[in-house]
Amino acid sequence: MPEVKEILQTMDYGPAPEDESHVRTWLKGHAAGFGHFIDGAFTAPTATFETRNPARDEVLGYVSQGSEADVDKAVAAARRAFPGWAATPGHQRARALYALARLVQKRERFLSVLESLDNGKPIRESRDIDIPLVARHFYHHAGWAELVEGEFPGHAPLGVCGQIIPWNFPLLMLAWKIAPALAAGNTVVLKPAEFTPLTALAFAEICREAGLPNGVVNIVTGDGATGAALVKHEGVDKIAFTGSTEVGRAIREATAGSGKKLTLELGGKSPFIVFDDSDLDGAVEGVVDAIWFNGGQVCCAGSRLLVQEGVAEAFFAKLKRRMASLRVGDPLDKSIDIGAIVAPVQLQRIRDLVAKGVSEGASLHQPGVVPAKGCFFPPTLLTDVEPASTVAEVEIFGPVAVAMTFRTPDEAVALANNTRYGLAASIWSENIDLALDVASKVKAGVVWINATNLFDAGAAFGGYRESGFGREGGREGLYEYLKLPSTQRAAEKPRAPLSSAPAESGVPGIDRTPKLYIGGKQTRPDSGYSFTVRDAQGVALGQAGLGNRKDIRNAVEAAAKATGWSGASAHNRAQVLYYVAENLAAREEEFVRRVGSSEEVAAAIARLFYYAAWADKYDGRVHATKTRHVTLAMREPWGVMGIVCPDEAPLLALVSLLAPALAMGNRVILVPSVVQPLAATDFYQVLDTSDVPAGVVNIVTGDPDALCKTLADHHEVAALWYVGPGGAAVEKASVSNLKATWVREILATDAQGPEFLRRATQVKTIWVPYGE
Ligand code: NAI
Repeated sequence: MPEVKEILQTMDYGPAPEDESHVRTWLKGHAAGFGHFIDGAFTAPTATFETRNPARDEVLGYVSQGSEADVDKAVAAARRAFPGWAATPGHQRARALYALARLVQKRERFLSVLESLDNGKPIRESRDIDIPLVARHFYHHAGWAELVEGEFPGHAPLGVCGQIIPWNFPLLMLAWKIAPALAAGNTVVLKPAEFTPLTALAFAEICREAGLPNGVVNIVTGDGATGAALVKHEGVDKIAFTGSTEVGRAIREATAGSGKKLTLELGGKSPFIVFDDSDLDGAVEGVVDAIWFNGGQVCCAGSRLLVQEGVAEAFFAKLKRRMASLRVGDPLDKSIDIGAIVAPVQLQRIRDLVAKGVSEGASLHQPGVVPAKGCFFPPTLLTDVEPASTVAEVEIFGPVAVAMTFRTPDEAVALANNTRYGLAASIWSENIDLALDVASKVKAGVVWINATNLFDAGAAFGGYRESGFGREGGREGLYEYLKLPSTQRAAEKPRAPLSSAPAESGVPGIDRTPKLYIGGKQTRPDSGYSFTVRDAQGVALGQAGLGNRKDIRNAVEAAAKATGWSGASAHNRAQVLYYVAENLAAREEEFVRRVGSSEEVAAAIARLFYYAAWADKYDGRVHATKTRHVTLAMREPWGVMGIVCPDEAPLLALVSLLAPALAMGNRVILVPSVVQPLAATDFYQVLDTSDVPAGVVNIVTGDPDALCKTLADHHEVAALWYVGPGGAAVEKASVSNLKATWVREILATDAQGPEFLRRATQVKTIWVPYGE
């Protein structure tokens, strides 16, 4: 033991070990292995595998590899428990969630130590961040259980939710999944990650102690095969997944067309932007939290440092100095900054990627020492990185920051968005105007200003682009565990076939050459072909252009350019929708003749008024989060949307889908009813006379399924709505770029409401600090 005098000389940290005896006793009690938690009881351990402490390279315990039969039993238990739990009054569900929160809080120290042992994260983090946030999540959602009925009128729980979580925040991810599901009245089967199952099993004990009814929470351990069995199980109504983009894609593919609701929270390569007017010392501490928190094994880690040229040298000098003082070592030492990497396979992946970065020209800065034994990797900075290099593009998921410089704010935004991901961004500047302007331009679901890696149960978390879809946390997250019975799928009825007969001459309307509507102009279809439109008796009514891939691509290009619409004020968009309504009303008789129903035209006009009314009222919120932040939930348009209309009610369906998308600021490529496309081609003139800017609405007539496939494949199309049979193909086609899809078989004539506006937007959570 050094003397105080000596310590004052060296100013070295002494060891500050956390007491692990309680956890060791608990582990000893389970030395025979852990079974699954099904229907309120633990099964006997079978087909066990080890779970290890990556810091000390020791076995902590043995858990069971869940088989298809285990998953089946768990789903059956959840199914049996569902009607009772869904019917339990919100107040009673709230009390159950409150009991879980209290018990987590009572065991905070135990759970923190267990988490740090199993995952390798520093005790400082599990004790001060992970586990308190777990308790906060259950408290917050106890509140939602109480309020859900009144705050989400008409909504119902989904049923059985299959939930699959990763290893980086094992108990926190469990809380993010289970708390909202139970609050909304669902039952769950959760599969923890194979590297870190222990806190989930400890939580199962807490469920029992809290008196949760049997079958409401079921936990099945195992690897990816167990996860895959859960994903494909027919008794599951929803899959919620957090993990790698690769597995996310496989899950999108496996659930396509199954009717299962899906949320995906996937990877990221989030920018950390330092402007030259920022508080550089604060920003350096920000980097520490952004990329060295949890050893960089964080989906929203600020892994790409973008630094303004004028301050780059000074900033990197300060950062390197700070790196030298970071301490890597035993996670159970309270004065350790960076713990262990979760497993040897992940350590190897990080090593390989860093070596690749260096071989591609990056300069390596890697101070400090790491323990010789165990899975450790030092804090690492790669500078001189090219935007196209591997380390700038790929998620490393380790304590590795890659740095680039920029000159202007526009360049910073371009670099920030130069990624297929869109999970988070951190912006550092003392100029609030600049910071908020950049926040609005960055494509990311969460933006922190002069801060990073802030989480709260009351604020939505989730990604843009290939970082996934859906939100977790707060009001926005609750929607993912609820459904509106009216928007459920109905039975498949095949779409009417496209008339393959060659265009006939002499049919009415032939004098008007059939065209498409792209970029505000009527344009000839690329194919040079048209198809004959007939009434129910088979009498030819006219022709419509036969659009193809090229036309869709042109339409997407026109829509992509029409950015002014998304930036226009909501008041302006409302005005334009009112003009469209007014001009449609002026031609009411003509449209009644076209669609043969005065009710349909009247309803379409009314619907335009309805969404014009909403355009400047469906806005965001300010959430009450725990820290001193104004936490904004901004509703942003997707940008470019594809919309494929059903066969029926051609004018009303077109308006019902187009108007909410436009009201929220999207630009649209719309494929109208193939049976009666002439209502849409007549609509061109209404658009022309209503000040709709060029490229905001593009209409391509033709075979909906073929055109939809091109829309689904196109990376520029951020979201796709499809009404009609064949939704499975749409969901499958969206696998490559993980675009958000909304598939419905039918559209009721009274289908209107905030649900459409919600689906026409995605929430961006912006954390703005206040106070010094
Ligand atoms: P992973 O995506 O394979 O694992 C996440 C969860 O999915 C685990 O519970 C796993 O058992 C399960 N799973 C695996 N295959 C499945 C399948 N076919 N069907 C259903 N469930 C399946 O992540 P992994 O292999 O642990 O890590 C690989 C890389 O993924 C990391 O290096 C990191 O880049 C990234 N990652 C990202 C995370 C995030 O939060 N965005 C979390 C974990 C990993």
